[in-house]
Amino acid sequence: MKIRQLPPVVVNRIAAGEVIERPAAALKELVENAIDAGAGRIEIVLRDGGQSLIAVADDGGGMSRDELELAVERHCTSKLPDDDLLEIKALGFRGEALPSIGAVSRLRIVSRPRVGAEGAESAWEIAVEGGLKRAPIPAAHPPGTRVEVRDLFFATPARLKFLKTPRSEQGQALDAVKRLAMACPGIAFTVLGDEERVLLRLPAALTREARLAALLGRDFAENSVPVAASRDGFALSGLIGLPTLNRGLPRDQYLVVNGRPVRDKLLVGAVRGAYQDVLARDRHPVVALFLDGPPAEIDVNVHPAKAEIRFRDAGLVRGLIVGALRHALEAAGQRASTTVSAGALAAFRAPDGGAGGAPGGAMRRFAFPPPLPPRALAEAGNAFLAPTAEDLPEDALPEDAVLGAARAQLHGTYILAETASGIVLVDQHAAHERLVYERMKEALARHGVARQTLLLPEIVELDPGLALRLAARAGELAEFGLVLEAFGSGAVIVREVPALVPGLDVKALVRDLADELAEWGDALALKERIESVCGTLACHSSVRAGRRLTAPEMDALLRQMERTPNSGQCNHGRPTYVMLALSDIERLFGRR
Ligand SMILES: Nc1ncnc2c1ncn2[C@@H]1O[C@H](COP(=O)(O)OP(=O)(O)OP(=O)(O)O)[C@@H](O)[C@H]1O
Ligand SMILES: [Mg+2]
Repeated sequence: MKIRQLPPVVVNRIAAGEVIERPAAALKELVENAIDAGAGRIEIVLRDGGQSLIAVADDGGGMSRDELELAVERHCTSKLPDDDLLEIKALGFRGEALPSIGAVSRLRIVSRPRVGAEGAESAWEIAVEGGLKRAPIPAAHPPGTRVEVRDLFFATPARLKFLKTPRSEQGQALDAVKRLAMACPGIAFTVLGDEERVLLRLPAALTREARLAALLGRDFAENSVPVAASRDGFALSGLIGLPTLNRGLPRDQYLVVNGRPVRDKLLVGAVRGAYQDVLARDRHPVVALFLDGPPAEIDVNVHPAKAEIRFRDAGLVRGLIVGALRHALEAAGQRASTTVSAGALAAFRAPDGGAGGAPGGAMRRFAFPPPLPPRALAEAGNAFLAPTAEDLPEDALPEDAVLGAARAQLHGTYILAETASGIVLVDQHAAHERLVYERMKEALARHGVARQTLLLPEIVELDPGLALRLAARAGELAEFGLVLEAFGSGAVIVREVPALVPGLDVKALVRDLADELAEWGDALALKERIESVCGTLACHSSVRAGRRLTAPEMDALLRQMERTPNSGQCNHGRPTYVMLALSDIERLFGRR
């Protein structure tokens, strides 16, 4: 076989294979071009999820006849004036998107430069069909550009077969637009679908917050906290959802780096790490984060579709994000998402058609009390599990007892408390789990966890691989008070357990830990692994639902919650309590 240079059409189709994976990718490239062209308004039309038509019209700088001819050629770009890949300021820079799209579809571009610019007197149109470029022809068009992509992948039938349903492709395309819209609040966006249905309409926003609210909805606006931090030339800002506002998929995580929406593993991992403490592993927080840093520290040229980036100092960025998010979550303290109590109230109201929409003003009153000062747990003193006479509340409640006095335990699961201005319903298992967890972290930070020797060592049988893995971590686990070693193949023997966890189900704990290690492997930083172990321990040691509590025990639990950081939600992001104001209860009964 002779070696030869491939013809341009083939080269472009190969490039398209990487850059244009599906309609959403083509749309992303076109919208990025419109943004780079300085558009103030971008109008998009999708037919059949983008497969039969993607049209993007902008009022940006436009192109002259000569520029149009170049634009569809490979490696032609206006965005790298100094050939400097370290100082990339535009979203595009590869000069590949249009020729790639042209190689696998029927592409048509009509454009006219801005008033005053060269060539502004006339519009021109150019077409590329399956890589075949036609000569420009005169056209009628206002200043700006309109790009139409028809029959995407008609020239590469293999790719066509991989497309999902139009509905699913449309969803992905819309998601791509939303991510860009998040990064560019000042630009107005419209997306029309089949039969001119409006899929998205975003007016130009004055602030980033306004755009976030338009994209993520009121739930997010009401249940998020601001983040702001900077370090070594990097600045992080944005809004992050409270743990109780969580999702089954990580889709609602918007990350924008230097104006570019990205799906970066490092960033996603950092967000996960920051929430690990307060969210179950299969739930995902909602975040909109904006990171700005020196372009030379961020390599954007590592991914054909420019979706991933690389940081020169990954540790710095990760630390900045994890630190800032945890700080913000801790400051949010007791707040759990208002959707929880709003939902509860809607359910209460159901008989009289009040269900469904959350009536505005009344709902806001269900907001949670302001965060309590996170006081050292040491001050709280004694162990919760065995409240002693000293724990008993005096007749009068302490002044800062915002969770009130326990009045009843319901169904062996919930504590009902009375406050000066309402009632509080506490999930005893969720609350206790959080308390144990925070205490364990505290104790660990100060002097390691006290251990207690089992009179009869417990042998736990496991899959041999898991047993090995667990035994390999024996040193770390001992720090948490769990002393174990390999026992033959396929089992471990547990000799000591954490002292603050009486009545622990050792077998269940060890199996959970083994599963966890298998799942996380070495992907987690040591600190996060430690916290993850604490979380598992806490879950196993908590007051299970169904256990009867005495009144002093219940009050002790409430007082400890007040003194514990993050106690508004359990380790899995479920709220630990809901609070109803008297005024709202009165409203329920039509007294107001
Ligand atoms: N909507 C538009 N308005 C004005 N000029 C445009 C528009 N779209 C493309 N161009 C011009 O065509 C050139 C080629 O576009 P193309 O998307 O192929 O490459 P790029 O944006 O430079 O880089 P990348 O491949 O990374 O997107 C751009 O550099 C720009 O000068
Ligand atoms: Mg481009």
